[in-house]
Amino acid sequence: MPTPTDFDVRAIRGRFPSLAREIDGHRVVYLDGPGGTQVPDACLDGIREYLTTRNTNTHGAFPTSEESDAVLAEAHAAAADFLGGAPDEVAFGANATSITFAMSRAIGRTLRAGDEIVVTRLDHDCNVAPWLALQDDCGVVVRWVDVRTDDCTLDEASLDAALGPRTRLVAVGLASNAVGTINPVRRIADAAHAVGARVWVDAVHAAPHLPIDVAALDADFLVCSPYKFFGPHMGLLWGRRSILEALPVYKVRPAEDTLPSRLETGTQAHEAQAGLLGTFRYLEWLGVSRGGAAGEPGTAEGRRERLQAAMRVIRGYERSLIPQLIDGLSAIRGLRIRGITDPGRVDERCPTVAFTLEGHRPQAVSRALGTRGICTWDGDYYAYELIRALGLAESGGMVRVGLAHYNTSDEIEALVEGVGEIAAS
Ligand SMILES: Cc1ncc(COP(=O)(O)O)c(C=O)c1O
Repeated sequence: MPTPTDFDVRAIRGRFPSLAREIDGHRVVYLDGPGGTQVPDACLDGIREYLTTRNTNTHGAFPTSEESDAVLAEAHAAAADFLGGAPDEVAFGANATSITFAMSRAIGRTLRAGDEIVVTRLDHDCNVAPWLALQDDCGVVVRWVDVRTDDCTLDEASLDAALGPRTRLVAVGLASNAVGTINPVRRIADAAHAVGARVWVDAVHAAPHLPIDVAALDADFLVCSPYKFFGPHMGLLWGRRSILEALPVYKVRPAEDTLPSRLETGTQAHEAQAGLLGTFRYLEWLGVSRGGAAGEPGTAEGRRERLQAAMRVIRGYERSLIPQLIDGLSAIRGLRIRGITDPGRVDERCPTVAFTLEGHRPQAVSRALGTRGICTWDGDYYAYELIRALGLAESGGMVRVGLAHYNTSDEIEALVEGVGEIAAS
């Protein structure tokens, strides 16, 4: 089993050209990953190669179109390996929000007035607003799972209370994009399935941090966003084949009625799929070189295991950084982290930490860090309900620091020093 020290973050950083960027003499410290990560060289190469050699539309009777179709098919197969599904269960779209709205409308066509959907107060609004919209569209009743404000975990008692014989869907995030909590999705899926409901999982925040296995989660649908896991701007959906085949999706008449075409409206960002293939090749390299997985990156054989190995290695490294981040920030006077801070509970969180600093508005803190070249987010990051449940909406939300596997212990030190100086100012 490789240890975090085998990780060699310098070599990893060498694969991400943007990490060399400097602003006003400061090496940029990218702690804004939850809003979108940086991309490796292989992703850039994939985009460039696609656009310079086979940039065209699908299903043409000519060589570049045939080559392009092969790239797109390979992107679906690799994405399926990333999530643990089958290639035809995977569809791309503009982003997770657009996919969720499109699918929620299709799911709404199967529901009747009085059917119930369960949503949580910990989720990004991408996994709330599309389901709320069905209240007006088809008379669905939305029930809420509350969040415990002491540690920002889901209140499981309120989940049990929300489930009932009319529950048709439970919409839950795998991890919180605001405070990093990892939700017990398998347990939630079991409870949902026990009442005959389906489970929609928003894995956007989890995807850059954790290995994902749709079968182990027993999800029915799962969405994520490649631009949050070292790929280009696009969204990715996995769904259980039997459900996707039967879903009355909105589609143009000439489009093929087979999977995944029936889910992908219009022309996709082909170059982004080619870039994502590069991202997967990079992750496979990580899985082989750091995670001990076998095989050749870029080939189908063994790809799932190489990708899983990469994500296990990433999780191990990031997990090792969490205590430094939490301890360093917690030692600053007036700083309060919301979410899990107990070092014994790191397995329940991603390396995403949100905090307030007494006497300083979150945006002022982020701006001051920005002048030091340190990128952090402030506000609610669309975790709309959570920020309100915490009573922080009026005061500008929180500052959010999100580590990715290309971040270093030195960068955490620079962050803590910067926040400490701001606190003292
Ligand atoms: C947990 C979570 N869900 C959904 C989204 C929305 O993703 P997209 O921008 O792909 O629509 C985000 C983006 O921040 C997110 O963090």
